Amino acid sequence: MALRTLITRKALRPVPIGFRGLQTFSLPDLAYGYGDLEPAISGEIMQIHHQKHHQAYITNYNKSLEQLDAAISKGDASAVVKLQAAIKFNGGGHVNHSIFWKNLAPISEGGGEPPKSTLAMAIDNNFGSLEALIQKMNAEGAALQGSGWVWLGLDKEFKRLVIATTANQDPLVTVGPNLVPLLGIDVWEHAYYLQYKNVRPDYLKNIWKVINWKYASEVFEKENP
Ligand SMILES: [Fe+2]
Repeated sequence: MALRTLITRKALRPVPIGFRGLQTFSLPDLAYGYGDLEPAISGEIMQIHHQKHHQAYITNYNKSLEQLDAAISKGDASAVVKLQAAIKFNGGGHVNHSIFWKNLAPISEGGGEPPKSTLAMAIDNNFGSLEALIQKMNAEGAALQGSGWVWLGLDKEFKRLVIATTANQDPLVTVGPNLVPLLGIDVWEHAYYLQYKNVRPDYLKNIWKVINWKYASEVFEKENP
């Protein structure tokens, strides 16, 4: 009885936020070298993109999370709300780039090899062919104004593939809560400008030579059993 009362009281007691330990994030390693995607994407772009741009999103995300933790501890509702934009932008940048690196692979390791099995069938059913899918994603990526991403996603609710774009660093889940990203292409200028200058369509044309369809297939099969 006494023990039970003690456990119940302990479970109901709020855990002081300052004591829970804040999870922060760090830059994930790439599974390949910076120059291994050449000539489709230069080593210089890959290095700056990973070490500078992705790192900056992580640094700022962690900073925002620490500020959020402090704001919650103080019960500062206004500060909690004020931090949401920075969390969405920098956290989205970390989420999106973490997927993007996995979406790429050197040609010697299967980059550009068309998908097989169930994902290949789903692409044919939804878009007619892989070539049609690529053309549609390239058209949407080229037409996207400003900075953002073009995605191939799985709609888990309707069990179909979708193409979508997001602005800035919005992750695909902001388009719909049931959307799972299979493939995301970064169309920010920092992803191509050093090599392709203003010609985004050439970058989009060439990136398919190093797309890691194996990763997209694994996610598809896991999320669509
Ligand atoms: Fe990027």
